[in-house]
Amino acid sequence: MDQLSVEHLLGIKYLNANDIDLIFKTADHFKEVINRPIKKVPSLRDITIANLFFENSTRTKLSFELAEKRLSADIINFSAGQSSVKKGETLIDTVNNILSMKVDIVVMRHGNVGAGVFLSKHVNAKIINAGDGTHEHPTQALLDSYSIREKLGSVKGKKIVIVGDILHSRVALSNIFALQLQGAQVKVCGPTTLIPKHIASLGVEVETNLKKALEWCDVANVLRVQHERMDIKYFPSTREYTQLFGINKEILDNLGKKIVVMHPGPINRGVEITSDVADSDQSIILNQVENGVAVRMAVIYLLAQQIKR
Ligand code: NCD
Repeated sequence: MDQLSVEHLLGIKYLNANDIDLIFKTADHFKEVINRPIKKVPSLRDITIANLFFENSTRTKLSFELAEKRLSADIINFSAGQSSVKKGETLIDTVNNILSMKVDIVVMRHGNVGAGVFLSKHVNAKIINAGDGTHEHPTQALLDSYSIREKLGSVKGKKIVIVGDILHSRVALSNIFALQLQGAQVKVCGPTTLIPKHIASLGVEVETNLKKALEWCDVANVLRVQHERMDIKYFPSTREYTQLFGINKEILDNLGKKIVVMHPGPINRGVEITSDVADSDQSIILNQVENGVAVRMAVIYLLAQQIKR
């Protein structure tokens, strides 16, 4: 059977194009499964998975949980807010305690960049990074690319613009790596204060004019302004941000072509995207959420195949 080239999913940076292909082919199968009347397979009946969320999450946490349940794995859930982390326990201690309950796979979201890599070196379990600070969010990028592939037939050769707060976004970085690996062209668009200084070194062009960026692209992936990661002001006001970088129906209707609009969620309606765009037939936002379950099932399934049983 085909195998992933990696032992953990820590970031898209560590994957190759064959890995992405394999994940998508496996996800195609699971997408068919989750649309059956009985949406479940017994594949991981002997596997235990811990979902460790040290940072808030709605979609990602629910999506991983559902993916694990659809594969028949046993799961345990942990949210930092309700745990002994607040009592001063270290990450390794928390995780080792959980692992002594015989856990095979850890899905972790953490505020620190590199938390997943650190953990993979110190504990004996498969690690899946569900978002590490401003760094990477690999399963989000995989489900984004999978959704583009579903909508447009392939990712190769497509032009994708990522709009918004690139500086604080782990979704942006993982998307850049994933899209380039599949042969897409990527631009970013947003206020210059929210674009990382060295973005050109990733082979990404910057377009600060939203209209021009949208005229160029096939797909716009729109990001939320991540206020919780900002300790200074990066732009004068939300109203000005919306005027310059908000996606509304008027700007889309004036393009003379129909682009695809995506958003990883959570949406701030009326800020980076208006409701009439988010809820329109150009938007694949809810398809992304549906595909997230199939893609996460694929990642978990493929990593579990490497576990000696
Ligand atoms: C994103 C995240 O947490 O990185 N959301 C998600 O996982 N769907 C983006 C965000 O919070 O804006």
